[in-house]
Amino acid sequence: MSQSSHPMDKLRAASQDVSRLPEPDDEAQAHSEQLVRHIAGEMEAAGGVISFDHFMAQALYAPALGYYSAGSRKFGESGDFVTAPELSPLFSRCLARQCREVLNSLGGGEVLEFGAGSGVMAADVLAEMETLDCLPQRYCILEVSADLKARQKETIEVKVPHLLERVVWLERLPEPGFRGVVLANEVLDAMPVHCFRIEDGEPKELFVRWQGERFASQWLAPASERVSQRLEALLQKYSLTDGYASELNLAAEDWVHSLATFMEAGVALIIDYGFPQHEFYHPERSEGTLMCHYRHRSHSEPLILVGLQDITSHVDFTAVAEAALEAGLGVRGFANQANFLLATGLTELAACSDSNGCNEDDEVDIRKQLEIAAQVKQLTLPSEMGELFKVMALSKDYDGPLQGFMLRDERSRL
Ligand SMILES: C[S@@+](CC[C@H](N)C(=O)[O-])C[C@H]1O[C@@H](n2cnc3c(N)ncnc32)[C@H](O)[C@@H]1O
Repeated sequence: MSQSSHPMDKLRAASQDVSRLPEPDDEAQAHSEQLVRHIAGEMEAAGGVISFDHFMAQALYAPALGYYSAGSRKFGESGDFVTAPELSPLFSRCLARQCREVLNSLGGGEVLEFGAGSGVMAADVLAEMETLDCLPQRYCILEVSADLKARQKETIEVKVPHLLERVVWLERLPEPGFRGVVLANEVLDAMPVHCFRIEDGEPKELFVRWQGERFASQWLAPASERVSQRLEALLQKYSLTDGYASELNLAAEDWVHSLATFMEAGVALIIDYGFPQHEFYHPERSEGTLMCHYRHRSHSEPLILVGLQDITSHVDFTAVAEAALEAGLGVRGFANQANFLLATGLTELAACSDSNGCNEDDEVDIRKQLEIAAQVKQLTLPSEMGELFKVMALSKDYDGPLQGFMLRDERSRL
């Protein structure tokens, strides 16, 4: 999400007072009430409370009702937030260049994009790969939201109709034997997290219960052995004092493990906002990173506007790397977004571009140049997306080059 719509952490300083958020209209309100009834029903069946990760999974992905599953706008100016591929095609064009290098080294293969949002990145990556004469055999998309699958198809049909036949929507993970590139932009941050808080030196987990007319928090001992053990390990490693609150993204780790089940050879590029673990659990980041986005306003109250707002948390890239190594994958690169994009040709693309193609011979009008300069700034400036967003390359049986990490590779920070 771009800085304009997202305070990018800033230790929550820019978080909005929730009483000043815009009111949803009647239709949205009715939709939300339906989802609230659905979740409250689940709570009742579970004996009164559900863990926060379960609540977040329902709020975002309950079939036909969750934020990502139902039909609200979400992406872009008229939605709740803007992501890098929505901001500028230059982002996807740089990714396409990294895809070309990997597919060339492998002697061909496929691209698989997880969580393709509006479909704009798929369309722009495909268009650039066509220009570079390196189209993948298939461009597969694995998307959990039925509504977004339809949006993605529409976008591709409009932007690159002649390439639609190469795009395949998968219903589940591919069978073992996948060769190629996996792309996941802002997917891990949208996965349900466990929230915890330290009380009297002990980790407590966040649960959610129904309180008369609204959802309310309840802090209890962690329900599962896995969460409990992970929190104990964090407590031993970092100085988390009473009142310290943060998150644990086990779904992201499971997702990394799932990559190893189908990848035979290739590279997975994970792009998201986040930090190495020592920064993620920094003593000053004492309220965690959980954020909600509603109509370009950010706040930290996930139990309201149920199904109408995005809920997200930053990514602990050390945990992602550890999960990868455990699963038998390699960790081949870690760079901030600015360095990755510059290393994959952002400056050249911007210089010779009307942002849709390389038109060195054309007279590029000044307005377009200013627009492109603004996009480059948003993608790369440390105060925008350049520093907070990271790119991590995980690999399986791939020892070819990765140009995105040639400028700077910061794996030693993990
Ligand atoms: C914040 S949006 C990002 C969309 C898009 N990648 C972009 O950059 O504009 C998160 C996306 O991840 C999808 N998603 C979340 N968990 C997923 C999973 N386990 N597998 C596939 N898609 C997932 C959501 O449905 C949504 O499309």
